[in-house]
Amino acid sequence: MVESGDNKSAPKGKTYKAFIVFYAALFLLAFVGLLVFALTVNRSKQPTPSDEKKTTAEVSAPSDQSFGISEASTTTVYQAAVEPVVPVTKEKHFEKIKRGESLFNANCSACHQLGAVGKVGFAPNIRNRDFLGLASDDFIKRTISGGRPGTSMPPRPDLTDHQIDGIVAYLRSLPVANPVVIHVDPHKRFPGNAVEGKAAYDIFCGSCHGEEGRGYSEGGSGPGIGLPGFLETASDDYIYQTLKYGRVGTPMKPFIGPQGVANLSEGEVADIITYLRSLQTVEKGATATFAGAGDPLSGEEQFNINCSACHQLGGTGKIGFAPSIRNRDFLAIATNDFIRQTVRKGRQGTAMVARPDLSEKVMADIIAYLRALPVANDVQISVDPYTIFNGNKVAGKDKFTIFCASCHGPEGQGYMAGVSGPGIGLEGFLSAASDDYIYQTLKQGRVGTPMKPFIGPKGVANLTDEDVYDITTYLRSLQIPN
Ligand code: HEC
Ligand code: HEC
Ligand code: HEC
Ligand code: HEC
Repeated sequence: MVESGDNKSAPKGKTYKAFIVFYAALFLLAFVGLLVFALTVNRSKQPTPSDEKKTTAEVSAPSDQSFGISEASTTTVYQAAVEPVVPVTKEKHFEKIKRGESLFNANCSACHQLGAVGKVGFAPNIRNRDFLGLASDDFIKRTISGGRPGTSMPPRPDLTDHQIDGIVAYLRSLPVANPVVIHVDPHKRFPGNAVEGKAAYDIFCGSCHGEEGRGYSEGGSGPGIGLPGFLETASDDYIYQTLKYGRVGTPMKPFIGPQGVANLSEGEVADIITYLRSLQTVEKGATATFAGAGDPLSGEEQFNINCSACHQLGGTGKIGFAPSIRNRDFLAIATNDFIRQTVRKGRQGTAMVARPDLSEKVMADIIAYLRALPVANDVQISVDPYTIFNGNKVAGKDKFTIFCASCHGPEGQGYMAGVSGPGIGLEGFLSAASDDYIYQTLKQGRVGTPMKPFIGPKGVANLTDEDVYDITTYLRSLQIPN
């Protein structure tokens, strides 16, 4: 301080002035100190950059956006969050993935295989790095709920958003080597020449995607990229980027540029896309009624597309997976209406999905096809749909446990319980089958399957009619009333 320096040499009369200056300085110092203190306190109340991350993480974690982010980046964000938030949110995400996995295994693995690896010529690999890099959550969700008409990919409008979210979370959680992020512009158009495009398609694509772009149903190794289900979900750029990147580990290679198998130019790809778009026709109404007799030939084609993935070619079935529906005894006991109802309503809780989308004509054709299949030693069985057995539920439970549970599950859950027989304790079966249907099945068995006749001295268990009444009454008690 200049003035205090002055004070040293100052005479006594100036002391008063110095005093004032001294206190003014002290006051100023205190004021500055207070200001600094107030600012620090205030700052600590303002959000810091890491606090901001926490809020975003909390908000986005349960929403869809977070699934696009890899596990690793999500974890980094969580680390910046306040302690108690971390385990809860992660736990929830983990639960969602677990739930998605079991839904996937129950509903999708029959075709897409366990772990979603797919099977060439049958169902695409949907844990594929390039597919997951390309397909948005919305693309996957729409494919699941809408299916791909004309292919075995069934529409699942019955799955809730919550369930589909779980399946998507599960797919996104599967580890992929060298993940890629591919930007798809859904609005970009690739106008080209459809005639040139057809020529290029025939040379470069038809051998795998089918001459008419119907894919597997034409015996191709690739999916039906000329079918409306695919074309409605996929943008032009989705097709372009697929041709640019290919699908690593599958027969679908990159086709564009000098590194592509065909060195296609952007113009040639635009032509192919334009040709594919020209194939995109509006589906005919599925609900149109159909009174005529079915056509077994077109029924075979429809069966192969829609049913053979599970019931196998020719409907022979696979033990522990899907029943034989070309079975002599099944066809003798099941009416056309039983088959129609089963397909329309499905069997909830099993892989047998409801297909209300199939037209009445397709239904009639499939039934005509099943009825036309040759069976050895035809049998006639008449089923009385009205009789109701009044047995003893408690005794029935014991008998069921002894004679049936080993193949149909402890509570009749069927394949889901890892057993060889279908879910005869489930609502779907019980609402379609009459008591006498069950009785006749136990009397007749299903030739060529593990389901033997059980009734009378020739039956494997020599069951009496009363035993069957008890078992049926027990099964009915498992049925949830509508
Ligand atoms: C050698 C056989 C083969 C050839 C040739 C081929 N593809 Fe593919 N393509 C496949 C297979 C297999 C898949 C499914 C991959 C999987 O399993 O995930 C596929 C997938 C696709 C997909 C993604 C479909 C979807 O459902 O997401 C598009 C689009 C596609 N191919 C377009 C084309 C076009 C256009 C051509 C011609 C330029 C072509 N492919 C040539 C075998 C082939
Ligand atoms: C009965 C067999 C079958 C079942 C069951 C099935 N899919 Fe598919 N899925 C297919 C076939 C076949 C395709 C390819 C259709 C085509 O040619 O475009 C497909 C296509 C897809 C695609 C598009 C893949 C691509 O490359 O564009 C997704 C995603 C998919 N399925 C998810 C699922 C999920 C999730 C489930 C279970 C809820 C499921 N699928 C059940 C047969 C099936
Ligand atoms: C050794 C295993 C085994 C045992 C034990 C067994 N089943 Fe079955 N059952 C099967 C199989 C497998 C099928 C499906 C056959 C096919 O593929 O068509 C079946 C089919 C059925 C069906 C027809 C289901 C449908 O969807 O149409 C009924 C009803 C049935 N069993 C009832 C019973 C009852 C009741 C018992 C006990 C008294 C029993 N089964 C014991 C294996 C068994
Ligand atoms: C994704 C696999 C899958 C597909 C695709 C499928 N089914 Fe099924 N289907 C099953 C399973 C599993 C069952 C047994 C369900 C149970 O446990 O009751 C079944 C049961 C049935 C039954 C009852 C059989 C009996 O013994 O009572 C009929 C009929 C049937 N399916 C017809 C069809 C037809 C027709 C199609 C094609 C339009 C079809 N299914 C497509 C898996 C499938």
